[in-house]
Amino acid sequence: MTKTMIGILGSTSYTGQELVRILARHPAASFAFLASRSNPAKRYCGIFPEMLGVCDEVLLSPDDAAGRDADCVFSCLPHALSAHHLAPFIARGIRVVDLSADFRIKDASAYARWYKAEHPDPARLAEAAYGLPERYRREIGAARICANPGCYATCVLLPLLPLLAHRGTTVESIIADSKSGVSGAGRTLKLSSHFVEANENISPYSVGRTHRHVVEMEQEMSLAAGAEVRMTFSPHVAPLNRGILSTIYFRCNRTAAECLDILREAYADEPFVRLRPPEDLPTVKGVAFTNYCDISVTGGGAGQPLIAVSAVDNLLKGASGQAVQNMNIMLGLKETEGLAG
Ligand SMILES: NC(=O)c1ccc[n+]([C@@H]2O[C@H](COP(=O)([O-])OP(=O)(O)OC[C@H]3O[C@@H](n4cnc5c(N)ncnc54)[C@H](OP(=O)(O)O)[C@@H]3O)[C@@H](O)[C@H]2O)c1
Repeated sequence: MTKTMIGILGSTSYTGQELVRILARHPAASFAFLASRSNPAKRYCGIFPEMLGVCDEVLLSPDDAAGRDADCVFSCLPHALSAHHLAPFIARGIRVVDLSADFRIKDASAYARWYKAEHPDPARLAEAAYGLPERYRREIGAARICANPGCYATCVLLPLLPLLAHRGTTVESIIADSKSGVSGAGRTLKLSSHFVEANENISPYSVGRTHRHVVEMEQEMSLAAGAEVRMTFSPHVAPLNRGILSTIYFRCNRTAAECLDILREAYADEPFVRLRPPEDLPTVKGVAFTNYCDISVTGGGAGQPLIAVSAVDNLLKGASGQAVQNMNIMLGLKETEGLAG
């Protein structure tokens, strides 16, 4: 069997490590190159000892990687840098999955406002598919550029999009409260990620409409509803290595049971979305180390809002697991390959 050749930019990042772990065991994949700015010429297993015997690739610098051939290249670089480093691969017709935000926002001026940087490759925004397979499977399959969604965005959008898109259902006054593990902030050192700051603590940040994932979530919710949708979003860092739990309040003309039925129908054939009954709400532990998004809906009655609860592993369905799911779709492989369990 001819293997699909994979390149990874930013392979020593948290999301890069998850990609290497999944793809080293993927039956149809082999590495064309792994790149790292800080560790060129080192062996991958020399940096991550658990990879001894699993991945002993020698790392390339991003510049040396730029001329390499591959069937699919993933980027785990920070936004703005990512589109810049992907450009030579896209120009050669190589399919790319970008884990950064660079191709998620269709409007380059909105990107500039929210990300405080000019978009590095605005001419290619229109051709990028938003990498949420549950909504854009066909577009992802045909795309050369896949914009892998944000981790919070995946967790918040999956419970809401089928309700917003459902004819006769109105969803209003959306307030999403999400708690993320510390790995969501990446491996780069920051004071807020130090053990003493993060342990035994839960910190809100960028609350209201200031977190960068708001622009992406509002874009996708508006497209699903066919009308402009606005939201309030309150993210928090919780003392966990990985995982996101979202509690989403909204006003709706349906009961919680009816919303669950709409979601059950929408996700009946989806391999990575699980609906849970209200007496068994999703938890971070219930999805950790898996590519699942678990969802339930409860609340309502007596004028109260409905409450959707959803959970993902931020490094898997929120990043690298979903990225491999997208690669499988783009290359015509079995969508769940490499992602079971
Ligand atoms: N963490 C998550 O849960 C998560 C979820 C979804 C999406 N994302 C997105 O995925 C991307 C990667 O996130 P992460 O958390 O895995 O990142 P991370 O752990 O902070 O690592 C960032 C990577 O970028 C590389 N890098 C930084 N500056 C660079 C430069 N000037 N030139 C070349 N390489 C450079 C680093 O390379 P070296 O270390 O080799 O220098 C490192 O591999 C980001 O865009 C992030 O927003 C993250």
